[in-house]
Amino acid sequence: RKYLKMQVFGEGGTPGSCDLLVMESAISARDRVGVQDFLLLENYNSEAAFIENLRRRYREGLIYTYIGSVLVSVNPYRELEIYSKQNMERHRGVNFYEISPHIFALANNSYRALRTERRDQCILLSGESGAGKTEASKKILQYYTHICPTRNNTHTIRERLLQSNPVLEAFGNAKTLRNDNSSRFGKYMDIQFDYKGAPIGGHILNYLLEKSRVAHQNHGERNFHIFYQLLEGGEEPLLKRLGLEKTNPQHYHYLVKGKCPRVSSINDKNGWKVVRNALTIIGFNEDEIQELMEIVAIVLHLGNIQFGEDEEGETHITTGPQLQYLSQLLGVDGSVLKEALTHKKIVAKGEEMISPLSLEQALSARDSLAKAIYGRAFTWLVQKLNQSLAFKVYYSSKCSSIIGLLDVYGFEVFQHNSFEQFCINYCNEKLQQLFVELTLKSEQEDYETEGVGWERVEYFNNKIICDLVEEKHKGIIAVLDEECLRRGDASDITFLEKLEDSLGGHAHFVTHKMANGKIRKAIGREEFRLVHYAGEVNYNVSGFLDKNNDLLCRHLKEVLCQSGNHIVSQCFHADELMDQRRPETAATEFKLSLAKLMEILMSKEPLYVRCIKPNDAKQPGGFDEVLVRHQVKYLGLMEYLRVRRAGFAYRRNFEVFLERYKSLCPDTWPNWRGTLPEGVATLVKHLNYKPEEYKLGRSKIFIRFPRTLFVTEDALEAKKQTIAVTLQTSWRGYRERAKYHRIRHAVIVIQSWWRGVKGRRKAMHRRQAADTIRKFIKGFILRNEPRCPDNEYFLDHVRFSFLMKVKRNLPKSLLDKSWPRPPPSLTEASEHLHRMCIRNLVSDYCRRIQPEWKKQLEQKVVASAIFGGQKDCYPQSVPKLFVATRLEINLKVLQTLGNDNKVKYGVPVIKYDRHGFRARMRQLLLTTSSAVLVQEAKIKQRIDYGTLLGISVSSLSDGFFVLHIPTTDSKQKGDLVLQCDYVIEAVTKLAIMADKIHNVNISQDSIRFAIARGKEGVIDFTSGSDLRVVKTKNGHLSVTTPRIS
Ligand SMILES: Nc1ncnc2c1ncn2[C@@H]1O[C@H](COP(=O)(O)OP(=O)(O)OP(=O)(O)O)[C@@H](O)[C@H]1O
Ligand SMILES: [Mg+2]
Repeated sequence: RKYLKMQVFGEGGTPGSCDLLVMESAISARDRVGVQDFLLLENYNSEAAFIENLRRRYREGLIYTYIGSVLVSVNPYRELEIYSKQNMERHRGVNFYEISPHIFALANNSYRALRTERRDQCILLSGESGAGKTEASKKILQYYTHICPTRNNTHTIRERLLQSNPVLEAFGNAKTLRNDNSSRFGKYMDIQFDYKGAPIGGHILNYLLEKSRVAHQNHGERNFHIFYQLLEGGEEPLLKRLGLEKTNPQHYHYLVKGKCPRVSSINDKNGWKVVRNALTIIGFNEDEIQELMEIVAIVLHLGNIQFGEDEEGETHITTGPQLQYLSQLLGVDGSVLKEALTHKKIVAKGEEMISPLSLEQALSARDSLAKAIYGRAFTWLVQKLNQSLAFKVYYSSKCSSIIGLLDVYGFEVFQHNSFEQFCINYCNEKLQQLFVELTLKSEQEDYETEGVGWERVEYFNNKIICDLVEEKHKGIIAVLDEECLRRGDASDITFLEKLEDSLGGHAHFVTHKMANGKIRKAIGREEFRLVHYAGEVNYNVSGFLDKNNDLLCRHLKEVLCQSGNHIVSQCFHADELMDQRRPETAATEFKLSLAKLMEILMSKEPLYVRCIKPNDAKQPGGFDEVLVRHQVKYLGLMEYLRVRRAGFAYRRNFEVFLERYKSLCPDTWPNWRGTLPEGVATLVKHLNYKPEEYKLGRSKIFIRFPRTLFVTEDALEAKKQTIAVTLQTSWRGYRERAKYHRIRHAVIVIQSWWRGVKGRRKAMHRRQAADTIRKFIKGFILRNEPRCPDNEYFLDHVRFSFLMKVKRNLPKSLLDKSWPRPPPSLTEASEHLHRMCIRNLVSDYCRRIQPEWKKQLEQKVVASAIFGGQKDCYPQSVPKLFVATRLEINLKVLQTLGNDNKVKYGVPVIKYDRHGFRARMRQLLLTTSSAVLVQEAKIKQRIDYGTLLGISVSSLSDGFFVLHIPTTDSKQKGDLVLQCDYVIEAVTKLAIMADKIHNVNISQDSIRFAIARGKEGVIDFTSGSDLRVVKTKNGHLSVTTPRIS
């Protein structure tokens, strides 16, 4: 928000200077008409200036003006657009002085005080009839129900609080000459708030309803609204049931006395709807509403009961149908009711006698009955409302705070004033007295006793009038009671005489007899005049005694006790008939209830709304200066303004002040150890109060301007946040530390347990390990002993680890010859296992081997058997695979050999002649049955395997081999000397096919071979650097081969 600063007080002037912050957005030129607070009025001693300010503002529709914290409100007599919800929002949480005067600002102020200081508040609305008290109280209630925080369960209470108004107004308000909606009862309403500031309940105290209106209204006035509302708005079946006609109220005697049943400003039809709805919201059930309406109907029917006198002078009822309705609605026997209305019961010497009533007495009894029924039903209604507004058990009453709203009937003067006006005006005197006591008197006394320099402001203290009315033994009420209780010929006139006797000479009391001259003329013979604080009122004594006695004849009471209408039977209890004591008179009862009310109000912090009626004609805009001046005067506004201007806006005991604001000063927070005045002085110094802003008395501090206090309050609000944050932080810190310590402790416990467990486990393992090692060593020492307990572990272990080692290192292939070394005790088992393993590998190998490879291997095995370790070039041949054939064989040769002699292998060879050792290229073919030597397509020699004697090779790396053939064979020319590059392969295959594996001869130095006819040739083998084949001189064939290994 932005605020506009306004200089509002004269610099160094009596009240000093003060900035008034006004909400910029809200302020308009119109708002600034005159002064918003009379304290700013330059000529504050001038009544004319005061009234002029009121008038100027009123003309602009500014009906509210402050005098300090008192709100002066002038009735606008028109709807103003200043009560909207937005307007309520604008006032929420805003300081009093920040915004233009408003009833909401005052309501907000008391609410804030309630919340911050936790002190019960009360708002006192005063002013004469029609000044706008009830309207203001409704606005306040609306404000609270709108802005206060809500709780789930407080919605109904809010609604009920709001709806209690239309119900009470329907039954307790009426049109008077002064006001079309005049409260004819006093109302004090407590609104209860919980500690969070949400409204949680309410309670209503009602004061003396003007019952006489039920039976009689002055000219131009009406009965209570509800009668007209029911007749105008009531649904047809309801009216029928109640025996009422939806017609002109003229049909009902009780509604015609004032001769104005219809008023343009009052919409009864709508009023009915509102009341009907309100009753439902408040919680009345259908039966209760019916019975309540029955009571309204009973009163109306009672009014229409007429009496006549027969020839013997006996009174009887002339309106039979009315009586019938009445007995029906009351739920009593018709004849009993009839008798009760026309006869009275007298108890004389313990005997009950019935005597007839005169016509006049019967009429009076009828009216009393109507008033009594209506009056008590009204009290019942208030009780019922209280039940519905009562806050429920879940809130303790201790934690609720209260704002009281007092709206009583305003001071009123009519042409004829009776007992009711006397009570009403007395009540207003009491309220004015409270205002005088709490503001003008006690405040000034306070300044004096506290030693604050003070010049007394004179004011009129109306205590003298209160005493005149209520003083024990001497007051008007005391005299009235005395006359009421007196046996004999007591009458209203004797009462007046008694008054003259005892009060004669009193400055505020005068009668026709006592007055002289002009005044005498103005006072009737049956009247007495009271000079009230608000003006002079003549009261006509007629009816005072009856109204004060307020007695209903016993006979009628008995009938009502038996009523079938529950409200009536609750209102008239049989106990009442038993009670021999005389009930308090009406005036005394009223006096006592007012005294109680004063006590209630005194216990709370009061805020005042002084309502002013601008004109008597209820005209919008009309400002009757004389009328307003009169009200300004009797309301004591000028005096109050003077006291305020010179005085202080706020005073508090040192203790309370220090306690509240000590947190704002480091020296006083959290506790002040010195004396209270020193503490307050220290605090005030720290708060930078200027000397003109405050004064320290003997036990109280006085603060001159509300602003100073508001600034301090704001600082406190801000400080509260800091304190709350500090508290929260400390608390959270404390909580977290505690939590941390708990967790830490828990962690340590867990850790120590866990460490213990781990330690114990480790120790156990160590022990077990040591035992094992010990057993192991012992076993090792005794490992060669027969198995015994001492070595069995070791032996088992050795066995186990060997077997595990075997398992882990099993040979993966047949070529892998590795095998773990067994311990001595497992040598045999190890061998078995090794064998099994190899067998297993072999069988596995065999299972997987291909036929060609198998053949290859078989041949290689044979080669190995023949040549392994014997021939020099054998190792070189091992990795070279044997092939199926190394030749392409001539077809002609194949044909020659035929199908029976299939060639299995062929290889190129060199054939050496047996004589000259000439080398010739030939092919050696191995068939199924013979070895064949071929030269191109020609078969040169054929050796059947059966004839082959053997094969010779050298041990060196040459490729020579000799096929030995028997010399006896005529077809053969001797042994065959051949050389082949694949000697190992060729010889092996030949040996296999000819089945001469064991006939292969490996010679070291030379091979002898047979030449035909018994001759022999020799081949000598020697090692040299390279291969050389020569025929030596001795006829041998010399083969030199390089050595390989
Ligand atoms: N603030 C307002 N705005 C508009 N109209 C108002 C306002 N205050 C009062 N009035 C008008 O004035 C009439 C009388 O006001 P209200 O009933 O509040 O007077 P009262 O002081 O309670 O009188 P009584 O003492 O007779 O009960 C209202 O019915 C309404 O028409
Ligand atoms: Mg009122």
